[in-house]
Amino acid sequence: MRTTSLLACVLLWTCGCGVSKPGKAESTIANEVKHKMTVGGKGIPNPLPATDENVAEGREHFGHHCGICHGLDGQSTGVPFAAHMSPPVPDLTSKDVQEYADGQLKWIMDNGINPSGMPAWKEGLTDEEKWKIVLYLRRLPPKGSLGIPDVYKEEQEQHEHTHGQHSHGDAHSPSHH
Ligand code: HEC
Repeated sequence: MRTTSLLACVLLWTCGCGVSKPGKAESTIANEVKHKMTVGGKGIPNPLPATDENVAEGREHFGHHCGICHGLDGQSTGVPFAAHMSPPVPDLTSKDVQEYADGQLKWIMDNGINPSGMPAWKEGLTDEEKWKIVLYLRRLPPKGSLGIPDVYKEEQEQHEHTHGQHSHGDAHSPSHH
């Protein structure tokens, strides 16, 4: 029930968003500004040790709260609209993202990134859960190794059912049903 409404919300957002793609130079500058100024929390270290247990819990929370956009592996595996968002959902293993300090990754969860589709988690996740997710973000598994989020599995199966062979590669347009 919760998952369905979250999905509806995400789809609504994806379709309703009219923000245009910034030019390349523009987005490089925006990126610099974002990393150096906008995103706070740089000096705050992760208070939790990277035990197997903490990382595993981080992976679980990530799967529940972030997987719908970022995939279970943080690399958008199985997320049909990831590339269509503006800005697109980034690969969380990329250098740009990994360059953030732990405290900044936590800050991003606290505050979201405006005006993009990256939401803020003021409630719904405790500080401890967010720090565990940060631990997991540092240890993301190889792309595709965790399969696709459950919410998309059903959709993909239906797709396979109606269309026979499911073609891999390019994500199909979200309006195609
Ligand atoms: C509704 C879809 C959505 C959900 C859910 C979501 N994200 Fe994101 N995320 C995005 C988008 C879109 C961006 C790109 C933002 C940008 O570059 O402006 C992003 C960017 C990020 C970034 C990189 C920010 C940067 O400046 O490069 C991190 C880190 C991140 N998300 C972590 C998470 C975590 C952790 C969760 C779960 C707690 C999560 N996201 C949930 C859509 C989502």
